[in-house]
Amino acid sequence: MIFILSLILLIIVFLFLLIILFSFFFAIDVFLDLPYVATKKEKVGTIIKLANIKRGETVIDLGSGDGRLLFAAAQKGAKAIGYEINPFLIFLTKLKSQFSPPQVRDLILTKRQNLWHTDLAVADVIFVYGRKKTMPRFEKFIYQNAKRGARIIVNTDKTKPFPNKKPLKSGNGIFLYKI
Ligand SMILES: C[S@@+](CC[C@H](N)C(=O)[O-])C[C@H]1O[C@@H](n2cnc3c(N)ncnc32)[C@H](O)[C@@H]1O
Repeated sequence: MIFILSLILLIIVFLFLLIILFSFFFAIDVFLDLPYVATKKEKVGTIIKLANIKRGETVIDLGSGDGRLLFAAAQKGAKAIGYEINPFLIFLTKLKSQFSPPQVRDLILTKRQNLWHTDLAVADVIFVYGRKKTMPRFEKFIYQNAKRGARIIVNTDKTKPFPNKKPLKSGNGIFLYKI
């Protein structure tokens, strides 16, 4: 009887800690201009298709979330670098990478860093999942810092893409630009 009661108590404490942990996780993003929203699974395919990633290229995800785009890029043989401010999402990406095959895992790098301070010049492909108020800033930041020929993939999710540049292609709410 005591054993069962202790077990129930333990489960309650565990659930309570889990709720605190998740609240903290969301609290971080509430204060961001760019809160966490994961790219929908059906859009990941469109992104990878439009990006036309080649083996050996370098891909940067600006705000990498749970790392889903990094994994998709690494599966194409690209070195995939994610910049993410939320430590829980970095932890989640690292945890997921432990269950990936080594040829994918070894290509993924996540950095806890402000995305506005990243070196974009190394990237052949840049992923952006912006919101209405961050799109103009993303456009300026990328066009000033990315190298010539870099492909930019913008996920809009009901907002407009870059306000001043014309996309090369689009589909499924995803836009491709070339610097
Ligand atoms: C819209 S989500 C996109 C997640 C992921 N790229 C995807 O497509 O599934 C934006 C991400 O950017 C992160 N973020 C917001 N501001 C940031 C900043 N200044 N520096 C780094 N990451 C940031 C958020 O924590 C969030 O995970």
